[in-house]
Amino acid sequence: MKKFIVAASMIGALLVALVLRADDAASDATQAAQKEAQVKLGEHLVKSIGCGDCHTPHKMGPNGPEEDMTRFLSGHPADAGSPPAPTLSDPWMGAFTGDSTAFAGPWGVSFTRNLTPDNDTGLGKWTEQNFIETIRSGRELGKGRELLPPMPWPAFGNLSDDELKAIYAYLRTIPAIHNAVPEPLPPPAPPAK
Ligand code: HEC
Repeated sequence: MKKFIVAASMIGALLVALVLRADDAASDATQAAQKEAQVKLGEHLVKSIGCGDCHTPHKMGPNGPEEDMTRFLSGHPADAGSPPAPTLSDPWMGAFTGDSTAFAGPWGVSFTRNLTPDNDTGLGKWTEQNFIETIRSGRELGKGRELLPPMPWPAFGNLSDDELKAIYAYLRTIPAIHNAVPEPLPPPAPPAK
């Protein structure tokens, strides 16, 4: 009888372990499906908001400038240098380069940053929180210098935390591209009196 009870309780324990494992596997599968849905939403947002309009270098295609997908979201190309602002006269206030990654205006010249997960030159080391704080505050990592125009961070403030998390999750999945974007150029000094 004793043997029977021991055997029965061992079988019971085994069954409990099996059920728990099946539960684990099911929650792993749910988590993977949730992650996939999050990345898909992020891709949808990035592609419909058009982050690539400014963050992907453009090249000339049959119908005019188009995104160079081999440099997807890698920012102003380091090999294009930091061209100084052109001289503009009223009513013109701004200009941008043909590859659509450098923008001149009253703020000086801004160069779009590398949004790929490259560790040294992109967002590789950024946490989800770093990303959300940057977009919400308009300052690098939520505390550095202010982001210059035309980065539309005030408009992106309308995105929910879940949407920003989805954008971040998608940006982690795109190919990492090593491209060290130059620092912005200050506005020209006002003419001497
Ligand atoms: C109209 C052009 C434009 C669009 C569209 C745009 N950006 Fe930007 N973004 C910029 C510019 C220019 C900078 C660099 C500003 C600076 O150096 O101060 C920048 C900077 C950033 C930075 C700061 C990165 C760093 O290293 O400090 C992040 C993050 C960013 N953009 C994310 C995005 C995302 C995500 C989208 C789409 C949802 C997007 N941007 C769409 C122009 C744009």
